[in-house]
Amino acid sequence: IDRKQFQHDLISWFASEHRDLPWRENKDPYRVWVSEIMLQQTRVDTVIPYFNRFMDWFPTLDDFAEADEERVLKAWEGLGYYSRVRNLHSAVKEVKASYGGVVPDTPEEIAKLKGVGPYTAGAILSIAYGKPEPAVDGNVMRVFSRILLIREDIAKPKTRKTFEAAVRDLIDHDNTSFFNQALMELGALICTPGKPACLLCPVQEHCEAFKEGVQSELPIKIQK
Ligand code: ADE
Repeated sequence: IDRKQFQHDLISWFASEHRDLPWRENKDPYRVWVSEIMLQQTRVDTVIPYFNRFMDWFPTLDDFAEADEERVLKAWEGLGYYSRVRNLHSAVKEVKASYGGVVPDTPEEIAKLKGVGPYTAGAILSIAYGKPEPAVDGNVMRVFSRILLIREDIAKPKTRKTFEAAVRDLIDHDNTSFFNQALMELGALICTPGKPACLLCPVQEHCEAFKEGVQSELPIKIQK
């Protein structure tokens, strides 16, 4: 794979075709964090109004840290998986208490926060802080399994490491935010499960699965 050409094709496509989503208005790490937690088990269309109201109620990390539990749970009502917001609130309070209200910008520190797993850590570090960290979720595994013809079982927990290494190899260090968001966007809009829209794909010429005609067989998901 031609790394530079791949980055260019992917990022140019994202620059012109991305959806204008409210958490993309700026790179405030707090906003990125809240959006990624909401998006973990909930679809984009559902998240949008919740995210907007959440930012009306708690515009800054400090506002959210100081909010009382009842209002916090109220803000999440309807999104489900309430442990997400409990962990988020506790972690945000921790950021205010121990980091002066500034979300940490290193993998080591950010990983200590409650509810921040490898995906969320990578998303915040790359989108808000421009760090060359992978943010690998199911969508990114699907996209990369096809581009690089990775036939490992994505249901196995340790497989994520393979994909993280692959993203690390290809990520554009000058544009980590667009690179990772473009992978998410490609997974959502083009490189979908089942029958992807390869004819519209900006990185079709880089895709091993397309070359072999096996895109519909990937990713491989066995265990569980
Ligand atoms: N899914 C997970 N994170 C996302 C993001 N930042 N934008 C769109 N979809 C997403």
